[in-house]
Amino acid sequence: MAKQNIYDNENFFENFKDIRSNEINFNDCIETPILLSMLPEVNGKSVLDIGCGMGQHAKQYSDMGAKFVMGIDISEKMLKYAKEHFCAKNITYQQMALENISALAKQFDIVTSSLTFDYAEDLDELMRNVYQLMKDGARFVFSMSHPMATAWDGKYDRYTCTELGERLYANISNYMVEGKRSVKWVVDDYELYHRTLSTIVNAIVNAGFLIEKCEESHVSDAMRKKYPAQFGGTLHRPDFIFFRCKKSI
Ligand SMILES: C[S@@+](CC[C@H](N)C(=O)[O-])C[C@H]1O[C@@H](n2cnc3c(N)ncnc32)[C@H](O)[C@@H]1O
Repeated sequence: MAKQNIYDNENFFENFKDIRSNEINFNDCIETPILLSMLPEVNGKSVLDIGCGMGQHAKQYSDMGAKFVMGIDISEKMLKYAKEHFCAKNITYQQMALENISALAKQFDIVTSSLTFDYAEDLDELMRNVYQLMKDGARFVFSMSHPMATAWDGKYDRYTCTELGERLYANISNYMVEGKRSVKWVVDDYELYHRTLSTIVNAIVNAGFLIEKCEESHVSDAMRKKYPAQFGGTLHRPDFIFFRCKKSI
């Protein structure tokens, strides 16, 4: 099946860039602080960032003292932006689909990925391939959309709200139906894969990983009150899920 490369669509890319660059965005306000808090010591380590996008995380790992960082992504536009805005001597960016990572003939101390595995059709294979790219004892830290957030088919609003716009409930539909979903986000036909929590956990465990930590995204009361339009629904369900895994033989 052809891999979706929506980030190279001009309209999608420009809109995503605006969302990601806005001071109040889900990545910087929610995802990144949790992901960074789950990383092992980065100083002196080799790091692979799968789906590095515009390179913000790769640059953070470089600034944290990584020996070198390799960022891979399917999107030419995202990589061009990364090379222009988030480069460093010890960062290499390479165009590569996550489905092809077994072609990387290297092993890393840390493998990481932020909000990219939603696009993986075969999560079992991806987990097995990541395992092969890691040194013994290496850590794998990643985030993806929470299954409660991907259990939405776009037929109804994401939240049921009061007339004043207060979010009363999150609308979850067909949680048990796994597979590709096409929903409206930035464009009309944004595609991602929904899977249940047990499917995600079993893909990790079956690849041979030990799960050391799992987190679900959370937002402080202060942030929720200050930015209700962005974060008003975050008590009803988490947006993201995070895992730290160890390769242990
Ligand atoms: C939501 S963005 C996250 C980017 C970055 N990790 C961040 O946190 O800002 C998802 C990224 O996954 C990349 N992507 C989507 N499908 C991919 C695939 N099959 N292989 C590699 N990268 C992919 C996109 O090009 C995009 O850069």
